[in-house]
Amino acid sequence: MNGTFRALRVSETANGVEQAIVERSIDDLPAGDVLIRVSHSSVNYKDALSASGNKAVTRQYPHTPGIDAAGVVESSSEPSIRVGEEVLVMGYDLGMNTSGGFSQYVRVPASWVIRKPARLSLENAMVFGTAGFTAAMCVDTLLQVGISPDQGPVLVTGATGGVGIVAVWLLHNQGFEVVAATGKSGQEELLKAVGADSVISRATLLENANRPMNRPVWAAAVDTVGGDVLGNILKSIRYGGSVACCGMVAGHEFTTSVFPFILRGVNLLGVDSVELPLDVKQDIWNMLGDKWTFDDFADFKQRTVKLISLDELPAALADVLQGTHCGRYVVKLG
Ligand SMILES: NC(=O)c1ccc[n+]([C@@H]2O[C@H](COP(=O)([O-])OP(=O)(O)OC[C@H]3O[C@@H](n4cnc5c(N)ncnc54)[C@H](OP(=O)(O)O)[C@@H]3O)[C@@H](O)[C@H]2O)c1
Repeated sequence: MNGTFRALRVSETANGVEQAIVERSIDDLPAGDVLIRVSHSSVNYKDALSASGNKAVTRQYPHTPGIDAAGVVESSSEPSIRVGEEVLVMGYDLGMNTSGGFSQYVRVPASWVIRKPARLSLENAMVFGTAGFTAAMCVDTLLQVGISPDQGPVLVTGATGGVGIVAVWLLHNQGFEVVAATGKSGQEELLKAVGADSVISRATLLENANRPMNRPVWAAAVDTVGGDVLGNILKSIRYGGSVACCGMVAGHEFTTSVFPFILRGVNLLGVDSVELPLDVKQDIWNMLGDKWTFDDFADFKQRTVKLISLDELPAALADVLQGTHCGRYVVKLG
């Protein structure tokens, strides 16, 4: 390589936050053990926050967001990570305050590097990305506490979003009855095509919010939105059921009482994909790249993924920030 490459750069200016595709140099990257030539990244909600100047995600600008990167090792000071190896990086500080995956190169600590599962291409790994990985964690968390298809329907909120749509597909493929909740009236056909048995409006999840408890409906839920929705879902979980909580697009605070927990033994299970130990991340990626790459993966990808270039990224980031997108954007950099 000639030492320069292309990247998205987000800057604070007198006119507000600006995004531009710029030329950067390898020397501009932070110090690290492993230099990776990035072939693909993906767009997550956190990227949209970072790219819009959200200081809770990124403290200092100019900055290159991108919490996901899939690519090939260009150089490595860690002997176990070989030049030419295909690898993934997600979470930790990538794309937050460390120059991220919306760039043709990243340099990261060896302790962040995940071996790409053999059966997943770099592009298909980014079909999942952090969003799909988090959906897998949510489903795995529910399975680990004993939730099974015979216990009743599982609710997925924010169902057309990145985490939500992968959760719908994963649950369906494991035999669950899946109820998808969405704020988008025109997406019932898509959600049913990827595995939802039925689709409900986001607004119904806020009904009877003043009651201490509601009729027990859901065996479990994957909640990607948080806020008042989460507070109300807890009141509708069946006896002994569980909610995997991973997101906050509807708000980071919610109100609840002890009733769901002490009257129905409901479990509220937190899911974090960012600081998870590397060996656990690797195990979940291996599962996604093997027995959880179900036979209809190609159909799921075709329906839910838009492959975009670096130049198309600013529009995609705006779409995700506004919550108007469906499914996943995969960014081709190589
Ligand atoms: N814990 C972790 O490790 C982890 C990892 C990844 C993501 N997350 C979090 O999980 C959440 C979802 O991430 P994502 O990448 O899937 O985001 P996303 O693609 O933007 O999807 C979010 C979805 O939520 C729904 N939504 C949007 N605004 C809403 C509102 N005001 N109230 C209720 N629902 C709303 C929309 O779906 P509908 O129109 O279909 O309702 C939207 O598509 C984010 O908060 C993200 O930060 C956490």
